[in-house]
Amino acid sequence: MHNDISEIVLSKTDIQDITKRLGRQITEDYTGKTPIFVGLLKGSVMFMADLIKDVDTHLEIDFMDVSSYIGRKSSGEVQILKDLSSSVDGRHVIIVEDIIETGTTLNSIVDLIAYRNAASLEIVTLLDKPVNRKLHVDVKYVGTEIPDGFVVGYGLDFDEKYRNLPYIGLLKPEFYE
Ligand code: IMP
Ligand code: MG
Repeated sequence: MHNDISEIVLSKTDIQDITKRLGRQITEDYTGKTPIFVGLLKGSVMFMADLIKDVDTHLEIDFMDVSSYIGRKSSGEVQILKDLSSSVDGRHVIIVEDIIETGTTLNSIVDLIAYRNAASLEIVTLLDKPVNRKLHVDVKYVGTEIPDGFVVGYGLDFDEKYRNLPYIGLLKPEFYE
């Protein structure tokens, strides 16, 4: 599995530094508000688990599963595979995403959560890959920006594989082309 990676983009300690920094910022911004962290399955699970441990205020978690990707390329459409189990009406929502590429996924979720009357909505993403952005999204909390290239690990997959790598790595093109 490790041999399929050409370069480590974020090591375990890089990721820890990021969750600590973002956790501190979110703690400052949300103390007293009991936000709901909405993790987008499945890629954000590891990030969500580590991030919330670095947030020092009451919070709740929930998950949504939306799909726009088949293999490597975005189909440009978003489908809800699993919806939230709690109501976001009047609540402060923080969407937790693994990576933003075209912005398609987040754009439709932002509209949906706003339509459901959330009191506020912000996005936290571990990775931002702006090179292929098609739709603008306001992202308040960004782990780090990365250049083009397909990354896997720490929750991120290629065809459901590599999610269990403990770091984020660049997948050698011969494995996804
Ligand atoms: P967007 O709708 O194009 O912004 O796509 C975001 C989603 O695409 C992410 O939540 C990932 O599931 C997937 N994705 C985009 N780039 C990568 C990548 O480099 N590796 C793994 N998944 C990716
Ligand atoms: Mg995703």
